[in-house]
Amino acid sequence: MNKATILAVAMLIAASSVEAQTSEQNLKTWNFSRDSINWQKVDIPHDWAISGPFDKKWDLQYVAITQNGEKTATEKSGRSGSLPWIGQGWYTTTVNVKANDYRHAYLCFDGAMAEPVVYVNGKEAGRWAYGYNAFRVDATPFLHDGDNTITVSLKNVEESSRWYPGAGLYRPVKLVLTQEARIDPWKVFARTVKLQGKSAVIAVDAQVEGTDGKGSLTYSLKGGNNIIKGNAKLEKDGRTAFEIKVPNARLWTPETPNLYTVTLSYSGKNNGSASYSFKTGIRTVRVSKEGGFQLNGRSRKIQGVCLHHDLGPLGAAVNKAALIRQIKLMKDMGADAIRTSHNMPSEMQMQICDSLGMMVMAESFDMWEYPKCKNGYARFFDEWSDKDIENLVRHHRNHPSIVMWSIGNEIPEQGSEKGKTITARLQGICHRLDPTRPVTQGFDRAEQALKCGMAQEMDVPGFNYRVFKYGRNIKQLPQGFLLGSETASTVSSRGVYKLPVKWGYYNSGGASSLDGSADGQVSSYDNGSCSWSNLPEEDFIAMEDAPYTIGQFIWTGIDYLGEPTPYDEFWPSRSSYFGACDLAGIPKDRYYLYRSVWNKKSHTLHLLPHWTWPGHEGETIPVFCYTDYPEAELYVNGKSQGRIKKNRNVEGEWATGHKATSEEAEKRAARYRLMWNDVKYEPGELKVVAYDDNGNVAGEETVETAGTPAKLQLSADKTVLNGAEDLSYITVSLTDKDGTLIPTASDRLFFKVSGAGSFKAVCNGDATSTEVFTEPAMHLFNGQLVLTIKGSQQDGDVVVTVYDGERDITGTLILHNKK
Ligand code: GAL
Repeated sequence: MNKATILAVAMLIAASSVEAQTSEQNLKTWNFSRDSINWQKVDIPHDWAISGPFDKKWDLQYVAITQNGEKTATEKSGRSGSLPWIGQGWYTTTVNVKANDYRHAYLCFDGAMAEPVVYVNGKEAGRWAYGYNAFRVDATPFLHDGDNTITVSLKNVEESSRWYPGAGLYRPVKLVLTQEARIDPWKVFARTVKLQGKSAVIAVDAQVEGTDGKGSLTYSLKGGNNIIKGNAKLEKDGRTAFEIKVPNARLWTPETPNLYTVTLSYSGKNNGSASYSFKTGIRTVRVSKEGGFQLNGRSRKIQGVCLHHDLGPLGAAVNKAALIRQIKLMKDMGADAIRTSHNMPSEMQMQICDSLGMMVMAESFDMWEYPKCKNGYARFFDEWSDKDIENLVRHHRNHPSIVMWSIGNEIPEQGSEKGKTITARLQGICHRLDPTRPVTQGFDRAEQALKCGMAQEMDVPGFNYRVFKYGRNIKQLPQGFLLGSETASTVSSRGVYKLPVKWGYYNSGGASSLDGSADGQVSSYDNGSCSWSNLPEEDFIAMEDAPYTIGQFIWTGIDYLGEPTPYDEFWPSRSSYFGACDLAGIPKDRYYLYRSVWNKKSHTLHLLPHWTWPGHEGETIPVFCYTDYPEAELYVNGKSQGRIKKNRNVEGEWATGHKATSEEAEKRAARYRLMWNDVKYEPGELKVVAYDDNGNVAGEETVETAGTPAKLQLSADKTVLNGAEDLSYITVSLTDKDGTLIPTASDRLFFKVSGAGSFKAVCNGDATSTEVFTEPAMHLFNGQLVLTIKGSQQDGDVVVTVYDGERDITGTLILHNKK
């Protein structure tokens, strides 16, 4: 081909694609106002409340948290994050469209917090109620040639959430323009219907609207180097259903997240053409008495984490880099599943779960008709719940990562006939729109859910906590298996160790019942859980020993804004203590406990506490080791403290049928932790030597007493940023000259970012901090904090400087941004 021919062909392709393709525009830049008088330019995703300031007045409540067993109302602060999310907000933007370029137009929202009303050129074009769900608005009748104004009004009312919901256009919004012929993504459904060895059959349903069934539809399936193509027949109404045989299928699993791209291409004579491409995976899901939970025919017990949707210091505004970091952190802990508690996930999160390999229980509601908080979703349930479930399933059903739908969490109707009827209805919608995935809900009142038959009705009966009831529950379940849909609720603050170590349960009045002091912090010896829950060991034992358990979702993988139990009444506690990681994403000790059991790919050898206790010389400081090795010896300055083995010979609540006493909790801990309870503190070196099953030395770990603060260490999760949306998370630690963490330091640090990037946020993981996340200064919490740096649209270095004014210490790190 000569140059002219190449150019002509290229022009032809370009011309036909302009005319024919569905176009999609991400509406990124908006004007935003809280009072419709003062406006500011913002990029979405945007959370209007995350910059604070923190103040208890924003969400002060006088309530009894009945779900936690409380009977009398008391003053509660921080329940929903103590950030200014309540009230109204408006967003407006302008889009230019050419009337001749399209026939139909849709505005697609991946979620808008909350009660969004959408106006196009001043006229109401659509609305939704629930802030978490994806919804679409048909803008066709309201748009005109040229510039068009899109306005979204949002409203968040008080006492509508049990956690921080965020506020605003916190997920993407796009405008989709199509020709007369159009393929609606929500009517496309691809799923694996057969899997034998490596040969798979994928069934695809779709509909090409605006065609009268005329014209032709081709499809392709692309994965690795393979491409399978074919033609599909259209019915009169444009519907089609076909199967694709894949001989050498590369299956999707969390360990091998292989994806395929399906492309549907329609071309007609007079009604234009349309195409739609999406990613999916080949995998099957099954639950049964014999096999438990099976992915691709292989039984596995789910090692899941519950996650709320907020991204700590970024609030609810979704961000790809932040979500990737979360999922990588959870995967390294050994988790293979996320429960999107207690609401619909974002599209972005599901795409990342698909591509990184993380199974998902996609949840919907925290309440039905009966309100858990005064103005919660119960206000909308009757009118909206069917539509909400329908959108959830249609929007997300092509994601291979989603292995289960959840129709509710601890619904107050458990136990009533009404509850049973609603269960059947919502589960029925899931089945109708997606017969391939099982449906669950999390029950916290097992007896009632079993008595009225709600638990028996579910594809997957899910029980929140109360492992001691598992043995009784299973006898009444025809399914023959059960899921720990929510487990543990063990609480701790990173780097806080309270002595002496007492085992048991915290009450909601603070941590003093076990830890002695009620200072807004909870001991990180992982010695206590909430009164309705248990330590991680109970769930480990139930998963290992009870054949009918199919997995668990711990509460929670990462701390979240709001729900500061056990400090619901303590100001300024404003975020949770439940996470295996703190709000900044720094692993707490508990992360390593889960890792030692869950992560089968690499070893864990983690010692706690820190070893810098000036003034405590000669006092008893228990030392724990979280490791997958069975045995270890501990040394203090070279002196052996004894070689001990895990004690596998203990049974758990699931077998005894009663809630563990403090003594039992401690004994069970010794099945997974190595604990030296009588170590006398002396400064120097704490060292553990681990032995494998054959008694051979397998690894060692040391913790040193810290000297004088000397350095600020900056360690980035990535040093190359890819443009303006990308983020790098830098963990900043104050250390002595040898790099040992100053474990109780609380110096105030200042940040400066110059060059091809900027400061985005900072968080120290302290649940009681009222310093805002978006100002470039913050105190260390137990020696550490995490800075979030944003890329830009320029190539170049990003110079990050951290300054400790109290000690005149500076730390610098240079990142690189590629636009
Ligand atoms: C559960 C509830 C969660 C969270 C948790 C705290 O009962 O489902 O949303 O509140 O308790 O322990």
